Amino acid sequence: MRYDFDKQINRFQTASEKWDQLEEHFGDKDLLPMWVADMDFASPEPVIEAIKQRAEHGIFGYTVISDEYLDAVVNWMQVRHDWAIQKDWVCHSPGVVPALHFIVQSFTQPGDKVMFQPPVYYPFSKVIANNGREIVYNPLKYENGRYQMDLDDLRKKIAGVKLLILCSPHNPVGRVWTKEELAELGRICLEHNVLVVSDEIHFDLVLSGHTHTPFAAISEEFAQNAIICTAPSKTFNLAGLQISNIIIPNQKLRKVFADTVDKHFLGLPGTFGLVAAESAYRHGGEWLDQLLAYLEQNLDFLTAYLQQNLPELKVIKPEGTYLVWVDCRGLGLSLKELEQFMLQKAKVAFNQGYVFGPGGEGFIRINIACPRSLLEEGLSRVSAAMRSLKKG
Ligand SMILES: Cc1ncc(COP(=O)(O)O)c(C=O)c1O
Repeated sequence: MRYDFDKQINRFQTASEKWDQLEEHFGDKDLLPMWVADMDFASPEPVIEAIKQRAEHGIFGYTVISDEYLDAVVNWMQVRHDWAIQKDWVCHSPGVVPALHFIVQSFTQPGDKVMFQPPVYYPFSKVIANNGREIVYNPLKYENGRYQMDLDDLRKKIAGVKLLILCSPHNPVGRVWTKEELAELGRICLEHNVLVVSDEIHFDLVLSGHTHTPFAAISEEFAQNAIICTAPSKTFNLAGLQISNIIIPNQKLRKVFADTVDKHFLGLPGTFGLVAAESAYRHGGEWLDQLLAYLEQNLDFLTAYLQQNLPELKVIKPEGTYLVWVDCRGLGLSLKELEQFMLQKAKVAFNQGYVFGPGGEGFIRINIACPRSLLEEGLSRVSAAMRSLKKG
């Protein structure tokens, strides 16, 4: 089956954060939304069919995680990631961010140090701060147009750190960390008794020429010292169904995590999340391959468009995710001016880089998971605004 990613689907009044919250977030409902990390594409047909069928049943009582569901998850990890996991390693959480919250509560005490690598997905800092833990930044290095981990800086700061939250692949800079990079990081964490939480929610969204390495697949030692956060939500556009799979090979860690989830009475997944995730992992591979090809073309389109029309904006070529990190410092605008320019003159809602923490200032994050016509509309709005800025 050929999927039509060019098709525009109206998302207004579908309780969509991205489309229906523009006024609340930006004070203007007439913006083109290219911010929140979900996609403007329909999920795979088999997923929609499975949900319809389950809806027809008509009874939506309390759930359990079935053996068939776990089989589908285990098989996906093996086939798509060459990662052999066991069914009982899979723990439920309604989402990865709630899971990070449970992990911080389970494995650290108030005042403990938790490290991460900004600029990065902004809830990491909230999860740490909201739980009264201390943030330790290990900023990424940006050299010659490419982001790297700064492991020298990490070594200097790691004493006393209890937990490291890794973003792999990395949102927003788009790196798909190599096995070697992860191995070096993992060794340092083992030496210093630092538990690694690897947020791998973007793991299926890897562009050609790159391979995602699940952190826990590198070695048994790493697996025993890691919690891997996965979900079908980014991959298949299921974020509204609130289901994620937190994979914990170490039995002791798993028990502590599961107890925390139970304490909050969040152990039962929603009916439709279970149905959709199982179907996506069983039948969604072909859709995903077509999606990745489409995203790759969107990326090429964006890159060529900016080079031709907006050379001041520099694309940091992503290796994974559908989020593109763009360096706008060439415009010479202050943070406020850049934000106002995009919102008030271009009328496009991007994520501003500064929200991703130190190192994000002067960048924007563009979500390219939309029909090409929408991407083109967004870019032409920016280009027209730029022409009038230059004239003015
Ligand atoms: C790195 C990362 N982790 C987690 C999430 C959100 O996870 P969830 O919706 O499962 O809480 C996102 C969404 O953008 C993300 O980019």
